[in-house]
Amino acid sequence: MDILDTDTLGKRGAILASKDSLRDKFEAILSNPYHPDTNPDGFINIGTAENYVMLEEVVEFANENRLKFDTETINYGLGPWGSPRLRNGMARYFNKWFNPISHVNPNNIIFASGLVSIFEMLGFALGDPGDGVMLTRPCYTAFPGDFGIKAALTPVFVSFPFTDQFSPVAIVHYEEALSRAKVAGIRVRFLVLCNPHNPLGRCYSPKALMALMRWCNRHSIHLIADEVYAMSVYEVPHASSSDSSSNTQPFHSVLSLNTDELIDPSLLHQTYGFSKDFASGGLRLGCLYTKNKALLRAVSAMTQFHWTPSPSETVAIAMLEDEEWTASFLTKSKEALATSSAVAKKVLDEMGIRYAEGSNAGFFLWVDLSSFLDRVYGAEDGWAKEEILNGRMFKEKIFLTPGGAQAAECPGFYRLIFTRDERSIREGLRRLGRALGLVL
Ligand SMILES: Cc1ncc(COP(=O)(O)O)c(C=O)c1O
Repeated sequence: MDILDTDTLGKRGAILASKDSLRDKFEAILSNPYHPDTNPDGFINIGTAENYVMLEEVVEFANENRLKFDTETINYGLGPWGSPRLRNGMARYFNKWFNPISHVNPNNIIFASGLVSIFEMLGFALGDPGDGVMLTRPCYTAFPGDFGIKAALTPVFVSFPFTDQFSPVAIVHYEEALSRAKVAGIRVRFLVLCNPHNPLGRCYSPKALMALMRWCNRHSIHLIADEVYAMSVYEVPHASSSDSSSNTQPFHSVLSLNTDELIDPSLLHQTYGFSKDFASGGLRLGCLYTKNKALLRAVSAMTQFHWTPSPSETVAIAMLEDEEWTASFLTKSKEALATSSAVAKKVLDEMGIRYAEGSNAGFFLWVDLSSFLDRVYGAEDGWAKEEILNGRMFKEKIFLTPGGAQAAECPGFYRLIFTRDERSIREGLRRLGRALGLVL
């Protein structure tokens, strides 16, 4: 391997160049996508969270000649914070689907090029380098980087040994993590709650949300609720042998709760976007809703670096303004997610692979391969075995997001994306079996 010469770069560039980038991790996976008929030797990616089951619907909608470009679409448009039509449409959408306790005002919404950009700006605005961002384990794989790569915040992970992290009793573990951070000299500025949760696919109960608001308020910690999977909550059929739907929780937005006695409104923020529920990750549209005027001003001072493309806005506005289409799309999406999760569970059941019970949201299952780690030789430590297994999976051209990249509590857990078609999932798991030296 070439020795990397970073002499021509600044200190920040040298650090960035020496770390693995998203490109390093994903170029090989993304550049050769598997297709059962046209590219059977390609890379099977059942690790990236995309709403594959609804992609065609969006394409059809966009192609049905409804998207008229005008001069504003091609010009700079109406500014890098989300055009009035986009923000009005989003506010109407929240008012209709998120059951807000008070009307959502479009002036409290700001748009940027995806939630990844919103998170980076939130990290920049709410913290200083070295401050802590509290994240729950396991955690959406990109959160530490989104808040860390440029805003330079440190993740403070909350573990939940033997506790249901979606219930109010989990507060004790937040307290514990905060104390640990204090001892380490880390000032925690905000907690990011992913509701519905990625990767566990579960929702927080209103009581848990309220307890967390009270807790954040007590410690003057901001609470950011990432609700990007809000409308991807589905019915769990009873077909699977090892899953129980009895404890599934419907989605409740932080916007739907009466927060008067719970949290200073300037500490509560919500994020949403088009990448998941609208199956439109390529539009790169994400937004922040907050009543904190200073935060809105701080973020507004940075959005020109994360400008929402006008053609993307045109597509999103068309979707939001066609409320009949949106309603039917969301219903179809929930049905398709229910079906595809059941199919993936059936395949996993047939192959004797376990997965976490009770998930009813998102596009993923939390798959337990820990019992197979015994078959991975070359290391004693479970995390090292997971790394070796990742390498073997890469050779077999199969990708599931490993727990080690998601702050999992124990080695051997993987996030499987069930929105892929059944043939891809079956072939993916067959390759996984080869990586494990099994016949699956
Ligand atoms: C919980 C969560 N938040 C945010 C994002 C990223 O959203 P965007 O595509 O808007 O950057 C993802 C994507 O996987 C996600 O899972």
